[in-house]
This record gives sequence, structure tokens and C-alpha cells, in this order.
Amino acid sequence: MKILVIVAHPSMEQSRANRALIQELNLHENIDVHSLYGEYSDWNIDIEREQQLVSKYDRIVLQFPLFWYSTPPLLKKWFDDVLTYGWAYGSEGDHLKGKEFIVATTAGGSEQDYRSSGNFEFTVSEFLRPIQVTVQYTGAIYLPAFIVHDAMEATDEQLKLEAHRYVEHIRASTEVLLS
Ligand SMILES: Cc1cc2nc3c(=O)[nH]c(=O)nc-3n(C[C@H](O)[C@H](O)[C@H](O)COP(=O)(O)O)c2cc1C
Repeated sequence: MKILVIVAHPSMEQSRANRALIQELNLHENIDVHSLYGEYSDWNIDIEREQQLVSKYDRIVLQFPLFWYSTPPLLKKWFDDVLTYGWAYGSEGDHLKGKEFIVATTAGGSEQDYRSSGNFEFTVSEFLRPIQVTVQYTGAIYLPAFIVHDAMEATDEQLKLEAHRYVEHIRASTEVLLS
């Protein structure tokens, strides 16, 4: 299966975690990486190009660092611009129907922070619900997210292991991911 990874990181030159994940992705022929901040430094997203790109893949991964419990703003704009009426939703908007989406996010917080008893009170999956509902609204399938915790403190070695775990996750079959 060919996989498209849409990356949204506003300062990739300073990134460690997302960079490590992308380095691993680049070793795999069937995984294509598309960087929103790299392609659209002027924030002028080419809607038709994005729609055509997404149409070519059955599985789309949305990769980003968690910013204020949400996505970096260009990814939010991507949803707003690209998921148009008549393409992504509406009576004839079925282009995403049946496609699979996976969120892959890096978080500064620990796993314990993201618990009902922890500092941030909610799980990362709970913070991702607006994306989950958006994906499901278009008729696409939302699969379990891949999350890197403690992203700022992780050593290079730990990030390498996370990157292996990442590729395994996004290449896993739908049945395995939903089991
Ligand atoms: C503006 C901003 C907001 C952030 N908000 C959160 C947050 O809400 N939760 C969290 O766990 N980490 C937060 N962080 C930490 C980032 O998620 C972390 O630095 C990033 O995932 C590390 O990945 P990188 O090395 O690829 O940049 C934030 C960082 C920045 C710069």
C-alpha cells in the first residue's frame, strides 16, 4: 500500500523528533512525504494540487508536533482549504470516502501528563477528536494515532526507536490497527 505522509512543522530546521521520524520514512519506497510548511511558505495552499495528491493514496498520515493541544496552524488551514464542499463532503463530495487517516504527533508532555489524573487532564486521543470527527465526516476511516511522548527530552537513540515503531504503525494492516 502506498502511503502519503503530510507533515506540518513550522520550524523543521530546529526539529529533532519530527526530523528523526521523517529520516526513517525516507528509507521506505512506498512512503511519500509532503511537507506543508516546505511547499507553502506563503500559506497559499494549492487546493487542486492537494486534492489530486490525496486522491492517489488510500492511506494518509498527518504528522505534526502537538502545539497547544492541537495542530500547527497551516495544517488547520489545510483542512479548511482542501476539504471543500463537493469534494470532501456534500451530496457529491465523496473523494475521501473509504480512505484511511492516521495522526502521528510528537508531544513534549509525558504519557502520565495525558491522563485524567495528570497535568493535562485529557488523553492525546481526546485532544485529537476534532480531527477524528472531521475525517469521519468525509466518510474516511480514522485509525489509531501514533504518539511520541517526551519528544523534547528523548535521546537520538530513543527517537530512532520511535521512528521504527512509527513506520511499523503506519504500515500495519487496518485489522491490526483496529484490534
Ligand atoms: C508553540 C508550541 C506549543 C506547544 N504545545 C504543546 C502542547 O500543547 N503539548 C505538548 O505536549 N507539547 C507542546 N509543545 C512541545 C512540542 O510538541 C514539542 O516541542 C515537539 O513535539 C518536539 O518535536 P520537534 O523536535 O520535531 O520540534 C509545544 C511547543 C511549541 C513550540
